[in-house]
Amino acid sequence: MNVLQKNIALGELRAARSMLPEPVGLVPTMGFLHEGHLSLVKRACEQSASVVVSIFVNPTQFAPTDDLDAYPRDLERDVTLLQEAGANLLWLPTPDVMYPPDFQTWVDVEKITQPLEGEKRPGHFRGVTTVVAKLFNAVQPQKAFFGQKDAQQVAVIRQMVRDLNMPVEIVTLPIIRERDGLAMSSRNTYLNPEERRAALVLSKSLAAAESAYESGERDAQIIRKIMEEIINAEPLARLEYVSCANFETLEELEMLDKKALLSMAVYIGKTRLIDNRVLG
Ligand code: PAF
Repeated sequence: MNVLQKNIALGELRAARSMLPEPVGLVPTMGFLHEGHLSLVKRACEQSASVVVSIFVNPTQFAPTDDLDAYPRDLERDVTLLQEAGANLLWLPTPDVMYPPDFQTWVDVEKITQPLEGEKRPGHFRGVTTVVAKLFNAVQPQKAFFGQKDAQQVAVIRQMVRDLNMPVEIVTLPIIRERDGLAMSSRNTYLNPEERRAALVLSKSLAAAESAYESGERDAQIIRKIMEEIINAEPLARLEYVSCANFETLEELEMLDKKALLSMAVYIGKTRLIDNRVLG
């Protein structure tokens, strides 16, 4: 694997990328890789002749109050894992490459960024779509691979690609879970053992909602209540939102008569976790 170390100019990335056999698949990440990321890299290897992975902890998708420096990082381990998974090129852009002085152009997807994560994390998706658009422009992949764990992020990126006619196919892969059901996330590393146990309320509440749906429940308010009650019963959990929304538009549903996205954000101690499940 060719590793393009920090402080390389975009020209060098383009030169390295132009040597790769086509088609090229891109897996954008913020590093501290886990099985979820590696499932994306493995699928990218199956579906593309070459695979580029980017690791960039994108400052513009964090709130000013977030501790960006505390975001977990382990580049040495990431490089080993990517090598084993079969990636061909690892690009590690720096903030000054992605956001040079006087940077002033943003990609802002409107409606679908308003609810859920967008409501709780103002400006987050503007940072995501801007950096993903820049990664697409720099790498020019035929396909890009994202995890369903960030369900709204995938919906927003699909919208951006459609709206701006970007010549890239978005491939989404299922959430990878720990054996006990916790969705894999770089943020799980913040949990102490007690919080780690408490964090199971997210997947448990989704499973309870799904089982109610499978038994015939179609009232979205009841489905939301089932999830809320399970989360609120856990003393270490603080519910931020639960949602039962239209899978395409992310608008809240009254009845589950179409494909739906159940999703939630929950603080376990100081750690904010998200999880989701698709119904129908
Ligand atoms: O999902 C992530 O890790 C990030 O939001 C992404 C897509 C790499 C953009 O910074």
